Amino acid sequence: MSSQAKSPFPAGFTITTPRLRIIPLDPENQEHCEFLVHLWGTELFTKTLGPSGIDDAASAKKFITNRVLADYERNKHGLFLVLLYNEETKQTTPIGTSSLMKGAPPGAHYLLPDVGYVILPELNGKGYATEATKGLIEYATKDLGIDGVFGFTGPDNIASRRVLEKAGLEFRGIADLVVFGRLSAIYTVPGMSEDLGVYGLNEEIRKEETATADK
Ligand SMILES: CC(C)(COP(=O)(O)OP(=O)(O)OC[C@H]1O[C@@H](n2cnc3c(N)ncnc32)[C@H](O)[C@@H]1OP(=O)(O)O)[C@@H](O)C(=O)NCCC(=O)NCCS
Repeated sequence: MSSQAKSPFPAGFTITTPRLRIIPLDPENQEHCEFLVHLWGTELFTKTLGPSGIDDAASAKKFITNRVLADYERNKHGLFLVLLYNEETKQTTPIGTSSLMKGAPPGAHYLLPDVGYVILPELNGKGYATEATKGLIEYATKDLGIDGVFGFTGPDNIASRRVLEKAGLEFRGIADLVVFGRLSAIYTVPGMSEDLGVYGLNEEIRKEETATADK
């Protein structure tokens, strides 16, 4: 089953943006495992998204093996590692994760993936999340032929909403999404249907902003 999933990506597979290199996570790569523990353990992450449950390299390895590789195998996308590329030294350094996620049937899921991102707090504000998001959306549409991409985020996560807007997504409203079980601001790339039900998103969408204290 999922533990036997194999990555469909050829060795060296990379999504390239001007400053970043976005690559698949490798459960056998200790640096990947340790970085995930660090990134998802920062105060900003836990305060915004809650505890990840990825507390040590062994749990990161298990998570990548069982969950991330299964997503790659099923969709050719999922959770990727974001590296900062240094033009002078030609070296890369992990700075975040960027994701294009679609749930596994028969669970609650929509027919198109949604983008996600986490960047090390000390490197926030430099446009890295926006650049990674644009890179993943281009990969989804051009390389995988995916017709549209969602962006879901807590209505009060201003930085995240800004990332989606800067990456060119359009605000569609607020809804209590079954996939997250909480209130989310919903964005889509331009050109998607007015009726989000055609993508399996049938929750009631409110157009107006709310003053909720959601994450
Ligand atoms: C959200 C996150 C990924 C942003 O990463 P980043 O690399 O700093 O993003 P960018 O630099 O591309 O863009 C951030 C934008 O938000 C703005 N911003 C950040 N905090 C803000 C605030 N409190 N109020 C208003 N704008 C804010 C920045 O100024 C920037 O916009 P600008 O370029 O117009 O100035 C990062 O803060 C993070 O990892 N947060 C925790 C995880 C998370 O919330 N992920 C999203 C889950 S849906």
